[in-house]
Amino acid sequence: MSRFSESPDPAFDAINRSLDVDKRLWPYDIALSRAHVTMLAAQGIIKQDDAGVIQDALNAVAGELEAGIFPFEPSDEDIHMAIERRVTEIAGEAGGRIHTARSRNDQVATDLVLFTRDAAGEAIDAIERLMETLIEKAEAHLDWALPGYTHLQRAQPIYLSHHLLAYVWMLARDRDRFRFVLSQCDELPLGAGALAGVNFDTDRQLVAGELGFPRVSANSLDAVSSRDFILDYMSAAAVCATHLSRLGGELVLWSSQEFGFVALPDRWTSGSSLMPQKKNPDAAELLRAKAPRTVGNLSSFFGVLHALPLAYNKDMQEDKEYLFDSVDTLDLSLAAATGMIDGAVFNRDAMSDAASDSMIAATDLADSLVKLGVPFREAHATIGKLVRETLDSGRTLDSLSLEELRQYSLFFDEETTGLLSQQAWLESKDSLGGTASRRVADQLAAARGLIS
Ligand code: ARG
Repeated sequence: MSRFSESPDPAFDAINRSLDVDKRLWPYDIALSRAHVTMLAAQGIIKQDDAGVIQDALNAVAGELEAGIFPFEPSDEDIHMAIERRVTEIAGEAGGRIHTARSRNDQVATDLVLFTRDAAGEAIDAIERLMETLIEKAEAHLDWALPGYTHLQRAQPIYLSHHLLAYVWMLARDRDRFRFVLSQCDELPLGAGALAGVNFDTDRQLVAGELGFPRVSANSLDAVSSRDFILDYMSAAAVCATHLSRLGGELVLWSSQEFGFVALPDRWTSGSSLMPQKKNPDAAELLRAKAPRTVGNLSSFFGVLHALPLAYNKDMQEDKEYLFDSVDTLDLSLAAATGMIDGAVFNRDAMSDAASDSMIAATDLADSLVKLGVPFREAHATIGKLVRETLDSGRTLDSLSLEELRQYSLFFDEETTGLLSQQAWLESKDSLGGTASRRVADQLAAARGLIS
């Protein structure tokens, strides 16, 4: 109060306070304070006795926070001030020494790096659980055919294993992005003070060691100003959530009566309050709908940092809401995706019926002509005409006799009619990375290697 002659306007208080949001940083703030106090005593900056009293108080405060009985006060602006106030209440005069050689600026930066490091580690674990689940499902449905789509039109048949494994590779790249986030969280900001360094002979390496950082930040101004590790996390989260939204979108389609490819587990669906027959794929829909908020969080925080002069500015307090929302959204989305895939029951007949539409052998027919020397464009035109006239006459490709086929090209022979049997369209995709069983088996082995 000393610098001020009036108390804060209630609206100022409301806009300024971050406690409700940053409360969840408390375990990191306690860990940071423990390490800081250990260092202050080791360096002779505060007395060992005082350090002991403060550590006891920190333990007591951690206990209160853990048990949900911490006595928050209306004057607590953020979690850092709340903890310091309570430590001082418990530790008396010694408590007044905890904030020696540190500032809330290097404190909040450190709490956030610690938080982000944990969040990235948890994201990696959750991504791996989903990868494993997809791999198990792929293994269980190695040769179940379904149509592959482009423009949501049946394009070429593929195996369900191949389709599910596509997500495994996307998720492996997501995991790489979170590994990069981890690498961006290995410098300790604490010790930077408000912005310029501190007037005490601190040992930042000691604090770094206590908190598990391999390095300390080299520039105090950068240490308190940087939030790019948050951008990195939110960017990785946005890409991953966007991948999950595509999975969600497919599950919504596939579980519809129109497709009927999959039944989602009851525990991941809900009923309608009005229509008793309905089973709604809510979680899959929400995978679609939650992803954009992670993109919005990233974009909003870019807006906060844009053109912001060094060093700390209160604008940066907004980082937490965006970061926490991205963390929570991704967390839930990964859990939902894993739960739905784990309990999904696929319908072999529905998928195989859709894949047996002989029209989707059109490319294979064209290729068979190409292999006999017909230029691809010419073959494409020939098959295009064949498809149109077959459709016009209300027939299907596999109902045409060899004689009828030969009206379109004299290159057609028994092999052509053989091509119109479903297996051939799949097993012929034997190029590296293709859907043929042999290639899927290789892929599966490689995918397993990703999480061993
Ligand atoms: N609650 C603040 C935040 O989250 C803590 C840092 C405050 N620093 C300051 N100089 N006011 O950003």
